[in-house]
Amino acid sequence: MSARRGDRARLIEASKHFAKRLGAARAYRFLRALSVGRKEPVRVWREGLRDEIAFWEQVLPARVATDPGYRLRADPKAPMSDPLMNFLIGRIPEESVSIIDVGAGPLTALGKTYPGKRLRITATDPLAAEYVRIMEEAGISPPVRPIECLGEDLLDRFQPGTFDIAFARNALDHCIDPVRVIENMVDLVKDGRFVLLRHLRSVAELNLYRGLHQWNFDIEQGQLVIWRTGRERVDMGRVLHDTAAVDCFEEGPWVVCLLTKKASAAPPRSPGERPTTHLVGRDAGR
Ligand SMILES: C[S@@+](CC[C@H](N)C(=O)[O-])C[C@H]1O[C@@H](n2cnc3c(N)ncnc32)[C@H](O)[C@@H]1O
Repeated sequence: MSARRGDRARLIEASKHFAKRLGAARAYRFLRALSVGRKEPVRVWREGLRDEIAFWEQVLPARVATDPGYRLRADPKAPMSDPLMNFLIGRIPEESVSIIDVGAGPLTALGKTYPGKRLRITATDPLAAEYVRIMEEAGISPPVRPIECLGEDLLDRFQPGTFDIAFARNALDHCIDPVRVIENMVDLVKDGRFVLLRHLRSVAELNLYRGLHQWNFDIEQGQLVIWRTGRERVDMGRVLHDTAAVDCFEEGPWVVCLLTKKASAAPPRSPGERPTTHLVGRDAGR
């Protein structure tokens, strides 16, 4: 009897402890959301860069040494494992398939091979130079060396209508202007080809708005919405109405969004011609 009472007391203590911790996390998230909401996205982005670099400096060498997922990332023969990517690649009639990974991190998560096809993968990330330095210092040679480029500046670096698939995983929530980045990704792919986005649901909330996490990706009434405190919610179905068919679904904790580019009614816009997006001003003060 007294042993049972002791168990109960311990359980109550543990529950109190967790409730306290949960309360602290909620309060922290609330305060961070408030502070992020008051700042311009570009400022949040600049302030978060140092943390992002420090994070990769700390974790990358050990991950490549011990984590099977990261070992695969460093393997030039690793097969494409993302099922939706495999499906999309299979739908492309040509033997050579060009793919751009936006916000790829140091080592793109994409597999490098697919039976019967040649995958030409371009990986971009604004922190590419730092990542290359970290990998050189750790003796890691990336099968796809990342190229330094912000998602917002993709059209300054790459020709519109040149890729079969533009891909982003866990990255656009880190950007200054994810709406612009998605529009750029649609501009970069050929007519009838694909943009695939994978982001954790409410990812900024989940990460308590720490570091570069400032945007949430969610599905509302079947559409991808991007939001954070202090900005209007953007319905991507509306933004992309003329340029892409949008299909969204949830896969466990992930929000997956597949965009299929419509045949162009007009030639792609040059960066100077693009209007201000809903989230931030045109040049975003970079
Ligand atoms: C959590 S990591 C994800 C890396 C990789 N996609 C993955 O799934 O492992 C987020 C990446 O987004 C990048 N990022 C930050 N701002 C960006 C921007 N404006 N445009 C494109 N990528 C950005 C960061 O540098 C970082 O490498």
